[in-house]
Amino acid sequence: MATDAVAAMLPFLDLPAINERHRAGYLRALARVLDGGHLVLGDETAAFEREFAAACGAAHAVGVGNGLDALHLVLRAWGVGVGDEVIVPAHTFIATWLAVSQTGARPVPVEPEADGANLDAGRVEAAITSRTRAIVAVHLYGRPADMAPLRDIARHHGLKLLEDAAQAHGARYRGQRCGSLGDAAAFSFYPGKNLGALGDGGAVTTDDAALADHLRLLRNYGSRTKYAHEVAGVNSRLDELQAAFLRERLATLDADNAQRREVARAFLEGLAGMPGLALPAADDENFASAWHLFVVRHARRDALAAALAARGIATLVHYPTPPHAQAAYAGLALREPLPLAEHWAREVLSLPMGPTLAPAQVAAVIDAVRDACRSLA
Ligand SMILES: Cc1ncc(COP(=O)(O)O)c(C=O)c1O
Repeated sequence: MATDAVAAMLPFLDLPAINERHRAGYLRALARVLDGGHLVLGDETAAFEREFAAACGAAHAVGVGNGLDALHLVLRAWGVGVGDEVIVPAHTFIATWLAVSQTGARPVPVEPEADGANLDAGRVEAAITSRTRAIVAVHLYGRPADMAPLRDIARHHGLKLLEDAAQAHGARYRGQRCGSLGDAAAFSFYPGKNLGALGDGGAVTTDDAALADHLRLLRNYGSRTKYAHEVAGVNSRLDELQAAFLRERLATLDADNAQRREVARAFLEGLAGMPGLALPAADDENFASAWHLFVVRHARRDALAAALAARGIATLVHYPTPPHAQAAYAGLALREPLPLAEHWAREVLSLPMGPTLAPAQVAAVIDAVRDACRSLA
């Protein structure tokens, strides 16, 4: 009985189904790498970097080990360090903050918009001090942050603007791709991302040739020529195999995102007007989300999740505890409380989302959420 119930459950993300579509391509990629004989920093990585930069509308892409390193290495390359401050969203995955902390700088959180998950640009200027060096804007859940006012603020105060685009491969802001909206952008290719590898991976995109060059040094022990080390770098390289797999996945990114957009459209239509349920903003001419996650809000979030589980629908929470409330940041003295971030953490619930969700599965999610909302009202 229990086994049947588990088997009948609609998974939150059907990664095996997503990857199965690429089986033949992955095997071809594996063969290319085996035959090429280069396993680290070879032709596949160079080709993926060119293709990914082009896909983002950026001049350069530099492959690194993961998304956290992508964020951290950019901040380090900009010289951010001890005594500096970096503005970060209060509502985000903790990696955004950890990248700042790893440089020795202090993350300074800014609350989300009242009706959106992203950083509220209107609150950023109040958080700037003489120590502020950069702003990290996260395109959370795949929806672009409102970059135009952030660019104005950054320019006016002489700050760097870094996109955390870990959830936003292929998203567009005012028609322009995420990854080309700030001074640099950090991507993650963690398997569950819209552009996911078969393991860890990350990249930085930028139009700044000097920054790209510096990152190529930093990721490879600070070395351009074997056994000559110009800076004290790290080992954080996108390996050939993951680069080869990512080239296969990149070819279907736009089509996959179009599928996600269809799912999001169906959810927005099918769930409109449900009692107690707040829906994410629809796309418009300025904001085209990558729909990495479809995140609803409900005052009785845990009860809604339980009701959906009872109806065979798996959900997740992104994220149940904001970074400032994590034990890891117990030592960080906040300048002011962050009630909005805490409110979001209590109410958010991510519904199943992905490019392989069948129409019948989408309909099943809609029916279950409608049912659950009515029973909780
Ligand atoms: C918003 C955000 N930033 C950064 C990261 C870090 O990426 P990675 O897990 O590849 O280090 C992630 C993903 O995990 C993320 O969702």
